[in-house]
Amino acid sequence: MPHNYNDANRMKPQMQAYVRSTGAYVPPRRMSNDELAQLVDTSDEWIFSHTGIRYRHIAAEGVAASDLAVEAARIALQRAAIEPDEIDLILVATSTPDYLGLPATACIVQDRLKAGKAAAMDLVAACTGFVYGLQTARAFVESGAARTVLLIGSEVYSQIINWQDRNSCVLFGDGAGAVVVSAGQTAEGSRIIDGALYSRGQGAESLARLAGGSRRPLTEDQRASAECFLSMDGRSVYNFAVPALVETIQTLLQRNSLSFDDLDWVVPHQANVRIIEAAAKRAGFDPKKFFTNIAEYANTSAASVPIALDEMWRNGLLKRGQTIITVGFGGGLTYGGNLLVW
Ligand code: ACO
Repeated sequence: MPHNYNDANRMKPQMQAYVRSTGAYVPPRRMSNDELAQLVDTSDEWIFSHTGIRYRHIAAEGVAASDLAVEAARIALQRAAIEPDEIDLILVATSTPDYLGLPATACIVQDRLKAGKAAAMDLVAACTGFVYGLQTARAFVESGAARTVLLIGSEVYSQIINWQDRNSCVLFGDGAGAVVVSAGQTAEGSRIIDGALYSRGQGAESLARLAGGSRRPLTEDQRASAECFLSMDGRSVYNFAVPALVETIQTLLQRNSLSFDDLDWVVPHQANVRIIEAAAKRAGFDPKKFFTNIAEYANTSAASVPIALDEMWRNGLLKRGQTIITVGFGGGLTYGGNLLVW
């Protein structure tokens, strides 16, 4: 049931926040399904028919989340025509940080960009990371705590997936997407209108990297064990994702007195086209309004929504003044979305 979970959400903000620019970067190495079929027992036919994926981009050895993040951020900053020292806060949404726990990947990005006045922190909400980040950026700007936030989703899943597990290794790719969120608005009324964030921690272990944290510190024996890599119960994540997508969209529409027809686009996390199609069918949403580019990039987790936004903007699909919803779902389990005028 859609609900107004947060009355603060309805308070009149001191400032309005809008997405000022986008940027994206994926590593040049492009791996096809046929190549994967040489590593595990799978096929292009199985992967494409079950997920919609044809390719994924894979970072070179030694390339970490901050390296991809800096590339995407530079493009977004250049398009926003702002200097790094105008950034008040850098948020990096990632579940594949450069280092486990500390330091934050955002601090490495801050140094590389020479963003001398920026606070910097990471945000872990797996594939919902960008959506959580946009709501966080909005809150900082609307409260007056920041005027300019650089939000980046950056992931190098190729380093944490188990390349021997065909159930998961076919699904993921590497990449980064960035947005600059600024105080103010454009002539077209661009602004972030609303956000809805949820968590369902009872499903925590259905999508997890079990070993290496404080719960199960790495033992000598575990260094090469499967627990060091991502493990996933694909069926239960699928069953969680479809209603999560529907609930998020319906909540954002209903509490803002909008109908699906008022939307120009839904930009969903790119996990599996079948999840998106099933959600659209279940709720009677027009599937043509759901943007997908999973065929080229696979699931890039926190990077998938900003990579999609950037591609839509560059291709002229996304225009100032359009009303859109972004939706994420994934590890945590987490889900949520943002409603905005682009
Ligand atoms: N190639 C060939 N066969 C495969 C492969 C593969 N890559 N993977 C699984 N199979 C087999 C299985 O072994 C199974 O065989 P069996 O019947 O002999 O046991 C068969 O295909 C069917 O398996 P299912 O799990 O039922 O396949 P399903 O149609 O559910 O598709 C999938 C699996 C794609 C993983 C789907 O469940 C899904 O998309 N789940 C959601 C995953 C997801 O979105 N994860 C990311 C979330 S975002 C984040 O936070 C990281």
